[in-house]
Amino acid sequence: MMIPETTRPPARVPAPAEVPSRGVWSLADIDYAAIDRPLVAGDTTLFQIVALASFIETGSDLYAQNLVAYFDDDAEVAQWLAQSWEHEEVQHGAALRAYVERAWPDFEWRRAFDAFFDEYSQTCTVPDLEPARALELAARCVVEMGTATLYSALHAYAREPVLKDLAGRIYADEVRHYKHFYRYFRRYQARERHGRWRVGRTLGKRLFATRNDDGLCAYRNLWRATHPGEHSGADDAYRAFVNRMGTLAHSYAPRELPIDMLLRPLQLPPVLSRGARSVAGAMYHWWLR
Ligand SMILES: [Fe+2]
Ligand SMILES: [Fe+2]
Repeated sequence: MMIPETTRPPARVPAPAEVPSRGVWSLADIDYAAIDRPLVAGDTTLFQIVALASFIETGSDLYAQNLVAYFDDDAEVAQWLAQSWEHEEVQHGAALRAYVERAWPDFEWRRAFDAFFDEYSQTCTVPDLEPARALELAARCVVEMGTATLYSALHAYAREPVLKDLAGRIYADEVRHYKHFYRYFRRYQARERHGRWRVGRTLGKRLFATRNDDGLCAYRNLWRATHPGEHSGADDAYRAFVNRMGTLAHSYAPRELPIDMLLRPLQLPPVLSRGARSVAGAMYHWWLR
């Protein structure tokens, strides 16, 4: 399937508060029959973002067990991870897959995903768990900040109503995940008492790790599936895709909320927060590109 390389021009960016808050939902709540296909048909960048998100969310189950096992003697955290968090992350993958299969029916999702997963499960790496639970929970806050930012931007960018609704639901889940991880972080930090420098280094390290080559691994498989018979060009196309993503993120991603989310685990006194905010803002803008 070939889709022309187009992206819509930037439009007004809604504040994160305009993204509707949602409760618990299931696939049955998504009105896939109402998808307005002509609204998404020619938008390659949108297709690629939604397909890549569906791959990575679906594949995340492979590593979710590591985190569940890490907290296995803490009944409250382990139960939330296994029954809510992991279930919701897997549901994000399934819901995005169902959207891709209906909005772009020429694309063979299963075949492309299987090729991606073969490579992902063998060669793509996840960051090691941190040596202390409070630090791992702080790092998870960074990951949930990242996904919340992505879906907030997707919600703002999408004109197709079903995708807009779905992105809003996933965004609300990711923010809720962040709040859980942050609450558990505070609990463990009160016991483990890591210094701010250590927590800050952990946050920076995980932020850096979320921009590793897993995106290229997923993109390469998506590109091969949509460019049959072509043996080179995926890496160049990926660089162009990253540039288009950066442009889109700068126009549609929220400005302030992700910086608040990034800084919160440092629990800074007001006297330090202004300087830290400008450093975190610079890191956030680097991460968006
Ligand atoms: Fe997710
Ligand atoms: Fe999440």
